[in-house]
Amino acid sequence: MRILSGIQPSGTIHIGNYFGMIKKMIESQDDGQGNRELFAFIASYHALTSVKDKEFLQKNIFEAAVNFLALGMDPEKSTFWVQSDVPEVLELYWILSNHTPMGLLERAHSYKDKTAKGINANHGLFSYPVLMAADILLFDSNIVPVGKDQIQHVEMTRDIAATFNHTYGDILTIPEHKIDTVVQSVPGTDGAKMSKSYGNTIDMFGTKKGIKKQVMKIVTDSKELEDIKEWDSCNVYTLCQLFMSDDELVELQKRYATPGEGYGHFKLTLLDKINEHFSPFAQRREHYLNNPDEVKEILAHGASKARKIAQEKLKIIRDAVGLNY
Ligand code: ADP
Ligand code: TRP
Repeated sequence: MRILSGIQPSGTIHIGNYFGMIKKMIESQDDGQGNRELFAFIASYHALTSVKDKEFLQKNIFEAAVNFLALGMDPEKSTFWVQSDVPEVLELYWILSNHTPMGLLERAHSYKDKTAKGINANHGLFSYPVLMAADILLFDSNIVPVGKDQIQHVEMTRDIAATFNHTYGDILTIPEHKIDTVVQSVPGTDGAKMSKSYGNTIDMFGTKKGIKKQVMKIVTDSKELEDIKEWDSCNVYTLCQLFMSDDELVELQKRYATPGEGYGHFKLTLLDKINEHFSPFAQRREHYLNNPDEVKEILAHGASKARKIAQEKLKIIRDAVGLNY
């Protein structure tokens, strides 16, 4: 079973990205029994739809690689590369474009949301789901771990693949998406979906002071120390659920129900949990940050593995549509 996912290098990754997608991806690595293989890439072509600054993009690609490696991406077990190092995907993108109805793209939430916010749409942004379909279909992916907002794109991929197969026979593998039932959407400090575009994120690897500032910003109701508080509607509690065991959560519920503590105390508990969770990865992150050549070598090795598979699949697709004569 092949599992594939990508992440855009368009800004600092946050705990929403981690619990929504990165963690699941890392956990999907080879189980030692050869039942699954993980394909993971940094979606550099996709990032061009929003990033128009050369140095910023270069820095983000490198940092995304460093973060993934620090969080446990194992380049021996998995295939890990930068999307634009395997340009075959662009050829498949063009071929699939001819099997993508305009109406399908016009209905894409991510495109509609962005244009509704006044972002000036270009063709890259509009056709972005076709490139995502090419990413998925080029590698015969079976499962695509993504957060809730990306599910529609995987459904579109299924539609595009089905249309293609209807025309040319059973060439493309139809993927499934995979979403954790507990962690569907991690709330940000304002209670809305955590997103780098909303300025409501909590970082994984910021300075302790920086993360504290973000945690202290979490919006709560205005109950006083002596009031009993409701845990089930509290953003601090929702975020604690990501880091705590069931026993720890029962303890925390008792603290909410007992007068004497305020939201500031619960926020400090959350802060400790965040630091405790990510500090083991921080050391490995430092290592990769200080050894860029090692990171580049890992990525080059990943790209060459991915490229071999991409070229084989593309040959089958070119044959099927009549481009090989
Ligand atoms: P952002 O919204 O910060 O720009 P991206 O769109 O780059 O994040 O998302 C990268 C991955 O992380 C996607 O698979 C997405 O579904 C997931 N993700 C992003 N934000 C969240 C969140 N708040 N909760 C759960 N998953 C998320
Ligand atoms: N569109 C995804 C995002 O913004 C990133 C992505 C690109 C992706 N290609 C993909 C995710 C293929 C899964 C599979 O998060």
